[in-house]
Amino acid sequence: MLIAIPDVLDAAALARVRAIIDAGEWVDGNVTSGPQSALAKRNRQLPEDSAAAREAGGMILDALGRTPLFVAAALPLKVFPPLFSRYAGGEDFGLHVDNAIRMKRGTDFRLRSDLSATLFLEDPAAYDGGALVIEDQFGPQSVKLPAGHLVLYPASSLHRVTPVTRGERVASFFWLQSMVRDDGERRTLFELDRAIQAVASDRGQGDGPVVQLTGVYHNLLRRWADA
Ligand code: NI
Repeated sequence: MLIAIPDVLDAAALARVRAIIDAGEWVDGNVTSGPQSALAKRNRQLPEDSAAAREAGGMILDALGRTPLFVAAALPLKVFPPLFSRYAGGEDFGLHVDNAIRMKRGTDFRLRSDLSATLFLEDPAAYDGGALVIEDQFGPQSVKLPAGHLVLYPASSLHRVTPVTRGERVASFFWLQSMVRDDGERRTLFELDRAIQAVASDRGQGDGPVVQLTGVYHNLLRRWADA
């Protein structure tokens, strides 16, 4: 499932994140790559241990926790600290798959990447190219969202970033381990949750069938989730 989550950052938070990261020291993006993706990647990143990445990443994690659509869609168990990338002057990232297991250097933190996320941090009118193209079951999906919006997609998918031919693409990207490992089960829970919210807004949270369906949601979550 590929889902766009609007307005993770509002204009003030976006400006703050950009001010922090724009003042950071950017390095060759291959510092986080495995040997295969290193062949394909041409961009710049903030070192993951840099103060700028940690401060801006913390703001993003806080914002995600306040975004119900993200929580409902991802059912996050662990989130890798957000990383930051810039592409300009024809830079791109060829077709690749993200590593299944991510470890944070110098710590015992690790996660299984069930979902990948890109949070766009630049106005799409300010650059050409730079689309995130995700191969899913319905074919390639090209994603280029307004600044402050996020796309969530299965980490198992092949994906690429097209060359940036004008301006600069600035984004945050990260991985997460979901409480529900299976994409189909997670999608079923998300669709059920959305439907319950819609019915509850018509009939009220105390409506009998709404209460019963909420019970079904939690009982499915109990069967499928690791917490
Ligand atoms: Ni990737």
